[in-house]
Amino acid sequence: MSIDAQTASMLNADDIRDIKAEMAHYPDKAAAAVEALKIVQRRQGWVSDAALTAVASLLDVSTAQLEAVATFYNLIYRQPVGETVIHYCSSVTCWMLGADDLRERLCRHLNARPGQISPDGRYTLLPIACLGACDQAPALMVGERLVTGVGAETAVTEILGEQS
Ligand code: FES
Repeated sequence: MSIDAQTASMLNADDIRDIKAEMAHYPDKAAAAVEALKIVQRRQGWVSDAALTAVASLLDVSTAQLEAVATFYNLIYRQPVGETVIHYCSSVTCWMLGADDLRERLCRHLNARPGQISPDGRYTLLPIACLGACDQAPALMVGERLVTGVGAETAVTEILGEQS
């Protein structure tokens, strides 16, 4: 498969190689959409409009189709994020057990609202639906790490490892 110039300018050679390897696992290239977006995000931190267009071209789907996949899958970031994304559970059990206080404590410490990048560039807080750890609520994902049962008072130390 030849790569057009615009795709080549938005994705590096490793991105293209890894996306093609994913595509080879499926009879329909489009089935590799989520993995392809993750590959781009792993290297670039998020998926810009230009990168999404380039991936759509590789997968032979429209940008609208790929945008729908990216929007549905909430671990694909369509705007820049901090080095570590903290996904706080916004579902009912965590809400009942103090998730709002926990979120607000983290926002104050990070000086950033959900969706914003902290001024030091290190963190972005984003909501997520139930993480499946309701029995240990409130729950968060700090990068790849599941953190549970933390109260607002000790959140900064226990979640970020920093002094509050
Ligand atoms: Fe938060 Fe299930 S409601 S982990």
